[in-house]
Amino acid sequence: MDPIKVLAPMAGITDANFCLKLVPFGFEMVTLGGYNIDKTTISAGEEILQRGRPEFEIREETYFEVIKREAIQLKEKWGGFVSVNLRSITPDPIIEISKIKEIDVVEINAHCRQKELTDLGCGQAMLQNPEFLENFIKEVVKKSSAKVSVKFRANVNDVNDLEIASIIESSGSDFIHVDAMKPGFNHADLDIVSKISQEVETFIIGNNSIFDVESARKMLNAGANGISIARAAMGGQIGFDLSII
Ligand SMILES: Cc1cc2nc3c(=O)[nH]c(=O)nc-3n(C[C@H](O)[C@H](O)[C@H](O)COP(=O)(O)O)c2cc1C
Repeated sequence: MDPIKVLAPMAGITDANFCLKLVPFGFEMVTLGGYNIDKTTISAGEEILQRGRPEFEIREETYFEVIKREAIQLKEKWGGFVSVNLRSITPDPIIEISKIKEIDVVEINAHCRQKELTDLGCGQAMLQNPEFLENFIKEVVKKSSAKVSVKFRANVNDVNDLEIASIIESSGSDFIHVDAMKPGFNHADLDIVSKISQEVETFIIGNNSIFDVESARKMLNAGANGISIARAAMGGQIGFDLSII
């Protein structure tokens, strides 16, 4: 089976229009968002907005309709898988979004490093509280109408990536989406991808610094089952042939 190619989330960029521009390049799954979807994260987003990051703006009254509209717009024109990356301090709003029938995957964001969100215990701060992360994922998995993915950043201080991968797996998530970021390097930490792939059976989407066929193949050879791409897609196109990966 060909590895799946995923358009990774880029807040403020990966809306339906942007995703539709990218799908002809050969993605099987695209990710909308990320979005803040509860009162607490939405008000943290407003603080982030005030320091010049408009991609964190979303209104509490409208987030559900916004996400639904984007998912419908995608599905009307494209038959691939639609994922949505979500930040929340409780599982319920994520479960609510999973009921939108055009959404195939809800992705729990354990990745964001904006201080206003990590101060709430959200985003990558979830990695520093494994018990909270585990209960959170289990609750989403139990009640979600969509498949579940957890996106996390590797090599965060005081975090054991293998423990996190095991928690994601034992909590029943369908996908482990790992940003194999290696601080100080402009390439992915393939060693951690390899170790994670030896630790778990869950489908791994390997992410970070895939800018050409070679870096994509290295990610897959390290043990990822699929790849995801963010910055190399930012210009609205992919400069290499995804179909040969
Ligand atoms: C502008 C921008 C916005 C991003 N927003 C999100 C987000 O909302 N949620 C998330 O999980 N990751 C987000 N990311 C991280 C990417 O999904 C990806 O993990 C990271 O850029 C590394 O992959 P790359 O080397 O292919 O860019 C964002 C990245 C960029 C550049």
